Amino acid sequence: MSLQPHGGLLVQAFNPEKDLTAIRKEIELDAISLSDLELIAIGGYSPIEGFLTQEDYESVVEQSRLASDVVWSIPITLPVTKEKAATLQAGDEVKLVYHHEVYGVIQVADIYEPNKRKEALLVYGTEDLAHPGVQKLYERPAIYVGGKITLVKRIAQKFPAYSFDPVETRQLFAEKGWKTIVGFQTRNPVHRAHEYIQKAALETIDGLFLNPLVGETKSDDVSAAIRMESYEVLLQNYYPESRVQLGVFPAAMRYAGPKEAIFHALVRKNYGCTHFIVGRDHAGVGDYYGTYDAQKIFEQFTEDELGIVPLKFEHSFYCKKCEGMATTKTCPHDSTAHVILSGTKVREMLRNGEVPPTTFSRKEVVDILIKGMRKEAVK
Ligand code: ADX
Repeated sequence: MSLQPHGGLLVQAFNPEKDLTAIRKEIELDAISLSDLELIAIGGYSPIEGFLTQEDYESVVEQSRLASDVVWSIPITLPVTKEKAATLQAGDEVKLVYHHEVYGVIQVADIYEPNKRKEALLVYGTEDLAHPGVQKLYERPAIYVGGKITLVKRIAQKFPAYSFDPVETRQLFAEKGWKTIVGFQTRNPVHRAHEYIQKAALETIDGLFLNPLVGETKSDDVSAAIRMESYEVLLQNYYPESRVQLGVFPAAMRYAGPKEAIFHALVRKNYGCTHFIVGRDHAGVGDYYGTYDAQKIFEQFTEDELGIVPLKFEHSFYCKKCEGMATTKTCPHDSTAHVILSGTKVREMLRNGEVPPTTFSRKEVVDILIKGMRKEAVK
């Protein structure tokens, strides 16, 4: 399995020397487009070199492919207001600004009005405004600007010890001598079920890239700062150091289920992974997606087109009769023997200082979650 980036070329578009003096126009970014700008520039979204033009956008929404036919499932867009759009034209160079700082420049290729209803239905599978991804889609301004970007300033890193560009992770994996690397996406603390599927993968794969998403998430998800502490303590106590690399994924969460699973896999390919774990309801929220929809979608593409192998895992749990972690593939007992707690239930327990069982989450992890939630509640 080769470590080719998606589309063959690792995009590199960071140039802090770029001369900005002649550029007058500005676009104000939101947190999502700021993180997307950086991820495009460091090659995380290769082969994408900018915010999607109309042709690429429509192709991604309708076919999960760029106009070049390369697989890509989440539209990476730069929304601006109608008023702002009226001041722009194709061919402009425009500064990309966040909180009064210039982070990049876009070479405007086109300015277009998206069909958000279609985007909601085809990317998120629903138009329901209660879906956090759809809500965000409609909240963002109405017009999209497409064009190649240059990043001129790096975003201040919240977790510098764990921030690596794709070029760096590729180098790290090579130094460790890993030939096969399995990427793990998460927006949650690593509970026993996550640990089980990661370790099941590690039985046959050389290294695990634990790659928690730390960009924008919905407000009731556990904060990235608390999660990072919980990953550290878990790795120190329960994982062989030489087999795991922790590194953050600075993107925003879209909660787009199956389409986001494909996107998550392709980005991890760019970071140098050969394999990617897709478990139960990957990147899902509420009841919008079937438990295994995010696994089934991989069948729509050939292995060559994806260039990263999905490792699909059943819903896993602790079984009291087996006295160990299991799935229905390996455990004959019925659900009364299984320890299954919903994310909502666990968050409620933690908020009340109640300790979920060690069969659900390691004690060291729970201690950090309770302590962290108390601290954040005081703020
Ligand atoms: S996600 O939105 O980032 O997918 P989460 O952090 O909960 O949410 O999941 C991380 C990965 O673990 C996903 O691939 C998900 O499918 C998988 N996963 C989470 N819980 C389980 C479980 N109990 N059994 C199997 N896979 C799981």
